[in-house]
Amino acid sequence: PRSYPTNLIDKDWANRKLLFRADSEQFLGLVHDLKLRDDDVWIVTLPKCGTTWMQELLWLLLNNCDFQGALAKDQELRTPFLEFKYLVFKDLNRAFEPIEELKSPRLIKSHLPLALLPSKLWEGNHKVIYVFRSPLDSCVSRYYHGVTFGFHYGKSLHEYFDEMLATDDFATEFIEHAHEFYQLRNEPWVFYTSFEMMKKDLRGVINDVSRFLDKPINDQQMEQLLKHLSFAEMKKNPTTNHLWELAQSRHKNAGKETHSFVRRGAVNGYKDELKPEQIEKANARIQEVLAKNGVTLDELL
Ligand code: A3P
Repeated sequence: PRSYPTNLIDKDWANRKLLFRADSEQFLGLVHDLKLRDDDVWIVTLPKCGTTWMQELLWLLLNNCDFQGALAKDQELRTPFLEFKYLVFKDLNRAFEPIEELKSPRLIKSHLPLALLPSKLWEGNHKVIYVFRSPLDSCVSRYYHGVTFGFHYGKSLHEYFDEMLATDDFATEFIEHAHEFYQLRNEPWVFYTSFEMMKKDLRGVINDVSRFLDKPINDQQMEQLLKHLSFAEMKKNPTTNHLWELAQSRHKNAGKETHSFVRRGAVNGYKDELKPEQIEKANARIQEVLAKNGVTLDELL
């Protein structure tokens, strides 16, 4: 039986099976009981919210701004995605190999909601960085990612978005996943930010994260970080464009139509990609869920 931090969580995430099918109970159980190392750092997001961008910053801060090291090894090998191996290979015996083999300090990425993360994290002795992004921009970004990896190949963005709108969990997933961490934002073990904040003031976010991790940087390192993390640099950096993911993908349509992983990097880009009536409908749903949770989009951003 699971023991959730019930003072924080009243959502039944486990039954929603976010990103998982019914056969993942065992995997989620192993995640729940996962042994952590004292100096583990976690990055938690929903897909397409700026994970890779923040991950690159975190890895560099945790590794003395070793830019050469960052450029020499695919990001996934430096900072693995917890659920990836299980999602693709469904092999419980090997699911945790990437993080077990990692040398400390480990930086681990996950898209799981708070309640499904290792229970050890809830004790607050490990640092967790959470990045939110406006649901409509991340939906559009998900579409292009999905096309590249074969899932939405042959489907238009508008068709995809209509299907998304028809699901029960659209909006709920985005808002509640983030709101749980937003409520913890003043805890010393949680750093909450957004893609929009990183776009607005990357220097400020770098300063704040470096303080949060207690990894000070000098002026020269700040300038190098700003350059390395710029959209233009990350777009042409093969280690941050998820080439590993495409190489491991088993979908029959993977790679038939490809979009660069570091694709557009815009705030409110959805406005010229979705139909006005889709935006209106989606915003109404988002507002409903925000109101139910007693939070505004501006606060989450
Ligand atoms: P778009 O598809 O809207 O361009 P994630 O890493 O969570 O999957 O998020 C991917 C999104 O972050 C993509 O959004 C990608 O372009 C954007 N991104 C990655 N690096 C970025 C950077 N340096 N500057 C701005 N956006 C970036």
